[in-house]
Amino acid sequence: MQQNFISILQNCSLKIQNILRQSHTNYLNSTNPSGDTQLALDIQADKIIEEELLKLDFIKGICSEEKSKAIYKNNGSYLVAYDPLDGSSIIESNLSVGSIFGIYEKEFKASKLIGAAYIVYGPRLELIFAGDKLHYYVHTGEDWQEKSPPALKKKGNINATGGTQKYWETNHKKLIENLFDEGYRLRYSGGMVPDLHQILIKGGGLFSYPSTSDAPKGKLRKLFEVFPFAFIYEKAGGEAIDGKNRLLELDIKDLHESTACFLGSEYEIKKVRNFYE
Ligand code: AHG
Ligand code: MN
Ligand code: MN
Repeated sequence: MQQNFISILQNCSLKIQNILRQSHTNYLNSTNPSGDTQLALDIQADKIIEEELLKLDFIKGICSEEKSKAIYKNNGSYLVAYDPLDGSSIIESNLSVGSIFGIYEKEFKASKLIGAAYIVYGPRLELIFAGDKLHYYVHTGEDWQEKSPPALKKKGNINATGGTQKYWETNHKKLIENLFDEGYRLRYSGGMVPDLHQILIKGGGLFSYPSTSDAPKGKLRKLFEVFPFAFIYEKAGGEAIDGKNRLLELDIKDLHESTACFLGSEYEIKKVRNFYE
């Protein structure tokens, strides 16, 4: 099953990379269930992934950031939740974007997550897949090459934090200031895929999207963005919390629910707990 799934993601990534290269970054008049205005590319990428995933016998259902409801089949036992195109607001400026996937067993909830993956559309096409362990694939232009998987050290030096600064809570301001005082450097593109990929590849640091006064539950969605990356970061030796609790132990009531999130290496997550307790 894992190999079939990886192959399907590799097919999707090549198709999506193709549509991204055509450079039609126009917005539509529609919004997704989170209220974001959709790009034609969001919908095209969503369709590509839907068609590919529904071909797999072991897939029972899918849901995505761009669909209000899940789609179910009669067979299969695994569910996939995905963000077809993450970073659609930075696509116009030609920064790296990505796709994110979580594989759930029978139910869309964190405790049922059994695998996760993301694709990076950058100067290179790359895929990270996490099942029992991490796999890292890079497309050479001809075919896919597997590289040794990245791992998080106990401490890093990158600080990537989102949200509108004027709406940050005091504890978040203090946390960020403390990291800079310790010599951390700001690295934030506004796309969680390249931002989290950079921390993973460089071996450590902190990615945070806090709760803010204008977005008390943060912005990033549990099923399509936060849980898959929490799974990947834990497999890479890191940790992932909402400020206090482990992200992969959070409940979910609505498919499109969001949460504050902090993902990083051991040292930085310990610091988050100290500032947020
Ligand atoms: P999407 O394009 O799927 O709506 O998500 C973009 C997300 C994520 O990639 C990023 O970390 C965050 O939005 C950036 O938000 P801010 O601009 O509020 O920092
Ligand atoms: Mn997204
Ligand atoms: Mn998206």
